[in-house]
Amino acid sequence: MTRFDPSGPLRGWLRPPSDKSISHRAALIAAMGEGEIEITGFLDAADTRSTLAAVEALGAGVRIGTGSRSVTVSMGPEWDGPPPPAGTQDLGLVIAIRGIGLRGPRPAQIDVGNAGTLLRLLPGWLAGQEGGEWTLDGDESIRRRPVDRIVAPLRRMGANLHAREERLPPLHVEGTTLHGAVYEMPIASAQVKSCLLFAGLLAGGQTRVVEPLPSRDHTERMLAAAGAAIDRDGDAVVIRPAERLEPIAFSVPADISSAAFFLVAALLVEGSDLVLVDIGVNPTRTGVLAILERMGAEIERLMEHEVGGEPIALLRVRSLRRDRGSAPLRGTEVGGAEIPLAIDELPLVALAACFAEGTTTIRDAEELRRKESDRIETVTEALRALGGQVEPTADGMVIEGTGGLRGGSIDSHGDHRIAMLGAVAGLASREGVEVHGMEAAAVSYPGFESDLASLTRP
Ligand code: S3P
Repeated sequence: MTRFDPSGPLRGWLRPPSDKSISHRAALIAAMGEGEIEITGFLDAADTRSTLAAVEALGAGVRIGTGSRSVTVSMGPEWDGPPPPAGTQDLGLVIAIRGIGLRGPRPAQIDVGNAGTLLRLLPGWLAGQEGGEWTLDGDESIRRRPVDRIVAPLRRMGANLHAREERLPPLHVEGTTLHGAVYEMPIASAQVKSCLLFAGLLAGGQTRVVEPLPSRDHTERMLAAAGAAIDRDGDAVVIRPAERLEPIAFSVPADISSAAFFLVAALLVEGSDLVLVDIGVNPTRTGVLAILERMGAEIERLMEHEVGGEPIALLRVRSLRRDRGSAPLRGTEVGGAEIPLAIDELPLVALAACFAEGTTTIRDAEELRRKESDRIETVTEALRALGGQVEPTADGMVIEGTGGLRGGSIDSHGDHRIAMLGAVAGLASREGVEVHGMEAAAVSYPGFESDLASLTRP
């Protein structure tokens, strides 16, 4: 059990850990290439370690910690925020991956651990490898995550896959010749889209993936940079087969999904003034900024620029609660096209909604039930245990804001984002929060507790 007491303001600068989605993709695409590729700022966490182990099992070479990327930050004389850190800011691990080529993976048993993204993306690459056989399996939670969403469309391309009860891991892949297909996804899922784009690299003819709503587009950006013939055509992404991918270096920004815990903490804890550095602000990921702004937050974006095809910015956020008697955040409606753009941050939106005035409704988010935990259930359980007024619905939640949370005790249910949600709730609560299963945070953010402590230190 870990306790998070009501805290003083969060102040200072932080570079959160690197983007999980981009790190998984960088390791996989590097493994598909030929020659050695450098990935700067690779996320060092349990999920992405699973991906490194997977590409090694397939035959790629992995060298960890061959240097690091850093920047010196300086601000102009008009800057009135917390002073930038002296010296350089470490921007994460540099790793080198020696690729095995698009058609090079050798047969293996793959342990995906807790990584749903690895579970869904990798079979797309393996399905088109004639003669190879692979089994993907993972921890107890991964065994509850559906894979029928990739099995059905891959089968339409000619793939040979077998899942337990037709829909759950372990997933067995027998490589075979694939043909291109048109697939209209019933749900907006970047994992399914990415899986089919990988399969399309090895299929005969063109593969067309139609999205019901835009979802994160890192795979498209990265495959285009590696020389794949990939184009957007309205609501579809079209890919043609490739002989090989170009070896290009990748640079991974900080994860807006990890940054979001500090954004919400700083909004809720009085007197906070926080600068988050090197944050990936790809528009397919920034739904949480738009939602929090609609609720009344002011989040400044500074120094926007592009690194490796991904937009990056500094985010400055200040608390709104200048006086404990008032709740300057207001409730809002979240649904439709905004859901895929903020899917992993919706638990935090629900937390912020408890501190708001009025009702917040989250709808069209049934996918939350299929994440690392059933997040409609686990968020409702956690926030209610802390005094929140939350009603679960089939596809979301209705939260009555009361301006604050009492505190209490929650269980992460092994879900990293629920564990970190509990920590943030504790800092902003009246009585503090005990989190059972805090160790789950290491799936995406091993240094979370010490980063949080460093920002609240007087
Ligand atoms: C991810 C896509 C999303 C997200 C997950 C990471 C990715 O899942 O929830 O944490 O890296 O592609 P879906 O594609 O299932 O929506």
